[in-house]
Amino acid sequence: MANTIALAGKGGTGKTTVTALLVKYLVEKGKTPVLAVDADPNANLNELLGLEVQVTLGEIKNELRSSVPQGMARTDYIEMRLNEAIIEADDFDLVVMGQPEGPGCYCAAHSFLSQALEKLLRHYAYTVIDNEAGMEHLSRLNMREIGHLLVVSDASSRGVLTASRIARLIEPLQLEVDHLWLLVNRAPAQIPESLDDYVREICAQTGLMFLGYLPESEDIFKREINREPLLDLPLHSDVVKQSYRCFDKMLRGG
Ligand SMILES: Nc1ncnc2c1ncn2[C@@H]1O[C@H](COP(=O)(O)OP(=O)(O)OP(=O)(O)O)[C@@H](O)[C@H]1O
Ligand SMILES: [Mg+2]
Repeated sequence: MANTIALAGKGGTGKTTVTALLVKYLVEKGKTPVLAVDADPNANLNELLGLEVQVTLGEIKNELRSSVPQGMARTDYIEMRLNEAIIEADDFDLVVMGQPEGPGCYCAAHSFLSQALEKLLRHYAYTVIDNEAGMEHLSRLNMREIGHLLVVSDASSRGVLTASRIARLIEPLQLEVDHLWLLVNRAPAQIPESLDDYVREICAQTGLMFLGYLPESEDIFKREINREPLLDLPLHSDVVKQSYRCFDKMLRGG
C-alpha cells in the first residue's frame, strides 16, 4: 500500500526514534488519521508516543486458540477485541503486535486477525510500522506491499554497509517496496567527507535513495533518560527540523 511506511535497520540505530518523529510529523502536517504499528516483540514505541498498552494482537491471537464467548460469531469477537487493542490518541492510533506465535501456531486465528487488520488499515491515511532489527520478520507481517521502506543506519561505514545488506534482502523476501530509502542517524555536526562518499557509493550500488542525515541530539538524549515521549519535542529542535526535511522529501518521492 502506497501509504505504508516501514522502518528497518540494525539494532539500536534509531528505528523507534525515527518512527516516533514520523508520527509527530504526519500528525502536525495534518496527514491524518495515522496508524502506528509496533511490530517489535520487545515493544517500546508506546513509550516514545506517551501511550500505555492494554492488549497486544499476539495476546488476542492466543485467546482465540482457547475461547470465543458462546453465542458470538468469531469475526464479531475478533473485531471487538481488535478495537480494544487500538490505542487512540489525538489524530493517531497505535496497535502493538506483541510476541510472535510459538510452535503450533493456530493459523486460523492468524489469518482471521490479518484479515481484520487489513480491513482496519483502509481507515488510515498513513500507516507507520516500527520493526525489530533485521528484515525476516517483515515478511511475517502479512504486509508485502510497502510504499516506503526506510532503512536507518548509524553514522559509520559498517552501519551503512549493514543497511545495504538489509536492502538486498527485499527481493529474496518477496517484498514489494515502492521507495527504498537510507537515513543516517546520529550524525556528527561535521559529516566526514569519506562517510558521505561511501553513503553515495552504496546508494548507487544498491538502489537505496539517500534521504539525509539526522543529528545526534541532546534533546532526544534528555527525553530518553527521563523516559519522556518525543511528541512534544519543539519544532526548532535540530533533529525535528532535519527529520521533517527528510520526511518532506520522502513523501514527495525523491
Ligand atoms: N538522533 C539521536 N540523537 C540522540 N540519541 C538518539 C538518536 N536516535 C536514537 N537515539 C538513542 O539511541 C538509542 C536507540 O534508539 P532506538 O531505540 O530508536 O533504536 P532502535 O533501532 O529502535 O533499537 P532496537 O533495534 O533495539 O529496536 C535510544 O537510547 C535513543 O534515545
Ligand atoms: Mg526499536
